[in-house]
This record gives sequence, C-alpha cells and structure tokens, in this order.
Amino acid sequence: MINGPNLGRLGKRQPEVYGATTYADLVALCERAAAELGVEVQVRQSDSEAELLGWIHAAADAGEPVVLNAGALTHTSIALRDACAELAAGLVEVHISNVHAREEFRHQSYLSAIATGVIVGCGVAGYPLALRFLAER
Ligand code: DQA
Repeated sequence: MINGPNLGRLGKRQPEVYGATTYADLVALCERAAAELGVEVQVRQSDSEAELLGWIHAAADAGEPVVLNAGALTHTSIALRDACAELAAGLVEVHISNVHAREEFRHQSYLSAIATGVIVGCGVAGYPLALRFLAER
C-alpha cells in the first residue's frame, strides 16, 4: 500500500475532508485487515515522487500488486502512471474523499485508465476494501 504526498498528515490535515483517522491508525487498520485476510502487507508513505516511483518499480519487479493513494500526484504525474503501467499483478487506486464531488482539477486521474479498479469516497475504509479485492483476486 503506497501513499503519496501529504497523506502522512492524516488526522491533522483537513479532517472535514479526510476524517479524524491518523496515518498511524491507517497503518494499523491495514495491517489488521491483512492479518484477517491472511496476506502480507507493507504500508508506506512518502512526499517524494522519486521514492514513490522506486517503490512501484520494486513492486513491479517482485510481481506484487499495489494499492495506491497518490494524493495530488494522481492529477499531475505522468511519470507515476508510466511506472504503474508495469504493475501486472494489479493496481487499485484509492481516494479517501470523493474527488468527483470536489474541485474540477481533482476529477482527472492519470492513474484510473491503467488501474485494475478504483475506490473513491469511502473514507479510509477504501483501503481494506482494496486489499480484500486484491487478496481474493
Ligand atoms: C486524495 C485526493 C487528492 O485530490 C488529494 O490531493 C489528496 C488526497 C484522497 O485520498 O481523497 O492528497 O487522494
């Protein structure tokens, strides 16, 4: 599970949009969901696009699926899309908020067209849903 810019600030950042769950809570939630599903998960966050690209390349090389909330890079990064296009084992794009009900610049995603699936607007509950989908796939 890979989280992009500003997602480390969950719980503090615009709680009216992203909720009160902290990033540490999110990690615990995902690890609990993985244990229940009997799968292994690594939950990561970076504000650096280069670091995110490195993690996606590593997942592609290892044949591992990715759950990705790329934050604002969703709407701007062709480099991230190109890296994600190599994820043959599956990619689920997650957004905590309903990006389609927000500013117009959030309506476009460079990732959705190459994602296996997209979960939008379900709050942090979208992450365990994505994990379940990939585990059962
Ligand atoms: C987000 C939505 C993006 O538009 C925003 O830039 C984020 C978070 C979400 O989870 O709702 O950082 O990806």
